[in-house]
Amino acid sequence: MAAVDIIIGSVYGSAVLVAETLEQTLTDAGHQVQLHEDAVLADLDTGHFWLFVTSTTGQGDLPPNLLPLFEEMRESCPPMPQLRYALVALGDSSYDNFCGAGRQLDELLQELQAQAVVERLQVDATETLEPEEPALAWLKGWMAKI
Ligand SMILES: Cc1cc2nc3c(=O)[nH]c(=O)nc-3n(C[C@H](O)[C@H](O)[C@H](O)COP(=O)(O)O)c2cc1C
Repeated sequence: MAAVDIIIGSVYGSAVLVAETLEQTLTDAGHQVQLHEDAVLADLDTGHFWLFVTSTTGQGDLPPNLLPLFEEMRESCPPMPQLRYALVALGDSSYDNFCGAGRQLDELLQELQAQAVVERLQVDATETLEPEEPALAWLKGWMAKI
């Protein structure tokens, strides 16, 4: 069983609900899970699995509670080839930069040589009012790789 850090970016709480749903399933499967709503690098361990759940705000921007970690990673983080991660992006396709925050974060993680174990999930608020449902189906498709 693995240690999993779920790292949340949320403005209005949808991403928190998704994260809590994924947390429950991972915990039931025997993993040790910690939720981070205001993550900083010092709180995180690259030996753990990182599961990001972030919405997008503004015009393709990261939520304020995830921005500090993003900037810290961009400005002062050495390559992290040992890090394995997965990412759920919540967004709304009626905005120009659909899931812009998730895309920016995924690109940064790739630049830092972290390993995505599965392709990023993008959940469109115009298609579902319950983003935890597609997120849970996505998780079940790959969680054996954690
Ligand atoms: C002010 C505002 C700006 C938004 N900007 C974007 C955007 O640029 N791109 C996008 O895909 N979604 C955008 N969204 C949609 C949110 O990312 C989406 O509703 C998400 O589910 C909200 O999750 P949260 O409650 O965790 O913040 C925006 C929503 C609001 C209210």
